[in-house]
Amino acid sequence: MHTKVLDAESIKQHINQQSILSVQVFDTVESTNQWALHHAICGEACLAEQQTAGRGRRGRVWHSPQQGNLYLSLKWCVDEVPKHFGLLSLFVGVVIAECLQKEGLRGHGLKWPNDILWQGKKLGGILLESKGNLKEVVIGIGLNVAMQPSETIDQPWVSLDQILDYKVDRNVLAGRLLSDLACRLLRFHQLDFEEFNREWQVWDLLKGQQVIASHDDKKIEGQVAGIDQQGMLELCLHDGSGQKLLAADVSIRKSIEVDN
Ligand code: BTN
Repeated sequence: MHTKVLDAESIKQHINQQSILSVQVFDTVESTNQWALHHAICGEACLAEQQTAGRGRRGRVWHSPQQGNLYLSLKWCVDEVPKHFGLLSLFVGVVIAECLQKEGLRGHGLKWPNDILWQGKKLGGILLESKGNLKEVVIGIGLNVAMQPSETIDQPWVSLDQILDYKVDRNVLAGRLLSDLACRLLRFHQLDFEEFNREWQVWDLLKGQQVIASHDDKKIEGQVAGIDQQGMLELCLHDGSGQKLLAADVSIRKSIEVDN
């Protein structure tokens, strides 16, 4: 399949936010997150056609072949660590979900903490990383745009080209995504939790679902009640007690589904 190559100038043409200072496009990098962590200036975005060691959440590998997908990282810096820092990854998920909706996608949602799913299949993921200083964060986004159907990944997946009835121009999509992110991030430090929680619930695929949370060898089963002010998942257990789960600690699956 012929896919237009990523091009920094074309991406910039679709960015309408001055806080994105620079865009780098690589053919191959280990990981755009890794590059951004070590080399990007604040406000710099980097993208790659392929990653040789793409990183997923909880030490997993993000399968990153050269097939026309989006592997994108943005280095975002602030003067003070925002009060709701724990919500940042969920917030980025909402921005992406809304951006994809504007691009015509329907039927997608977010699986806490940071999976973008379409009809139960993984369409994309978000990985936030820092070098310890939470005032400088790399926001990494992987989006399946034109994944070959023959690719075997360890979970059900889907790609935008299998859903949308037009061919996605990745330069346009990347530019719009970066614009939306930059615009919303400028106001992240003023986030009102109640307001954000209402937005989250529009996209939340787990609310009210019976799930099993796995952490090391332990498994906890309960019904998802929602999120708290720090982005933790609130479960209601069978004995009526509550349990909060930290995104970094657990993987979640619905009681009746395979793990994703
Ligand atoms: C997940 O769902 O586990 C998160 C996946 C995040 C993948 C993206 S691709 C761009 C950026 N660079 C990386 O190495 N990872 C993120």
